[in-house]
Amino acid sequence: MQQNTYSAKVMEHFQNPRNVGEIEDADGVGNVGNPVCGDIMRLYIKVKNDMITEAKFQTLGCGAAIASSSVLTELVKGKTIAEAMTLRNDDVVKALGGLPDVKMHCSVLAEQALRKAIEDYRSKHGGAKKKEEKT
Ligand code: FES
Repeated sequence: MQQNTYSAKVMEHFQNPRNVGEIEDADGVGNVGNPVCGDIMRLYIKVKNDMITEAKFQTLGCGAAIASSSVLTELVKGKTIAEAMTLRNDDVVKALGGLPDVKMHCSVLAEQALRKAIEDYRSKHGGAKKKEEKT
């Protein structure tokens, strides 16, 4: 999908971003930054029974980065960790109705923030390597 302008959905998420803020008792936090543009993104997730129940973000960045973060929090809620791991920046772009080519990296930042938050969750809860046996 090639375009040079922001879609209405991007503008809407930029002007009215969902789930902005911090989750103080987050189960996972992902911090990422793009060294070229200098934009930074922090994603917080709450996980219950292997499902992401809450997601919030703090993004210091461009409009596309804010819109990507916002739509990402909507996409991941209700997903299992395994499902969330399959989420790609293309899914973010699709949910936003496209992004200008020069802004694709902003959606990659959202994918990376999600990965990092999941890695953080797994490192804290040991879910990556060993699955606890539940009886
Ligand atoms: Fe770098 Fe948007 S310009 S994240």
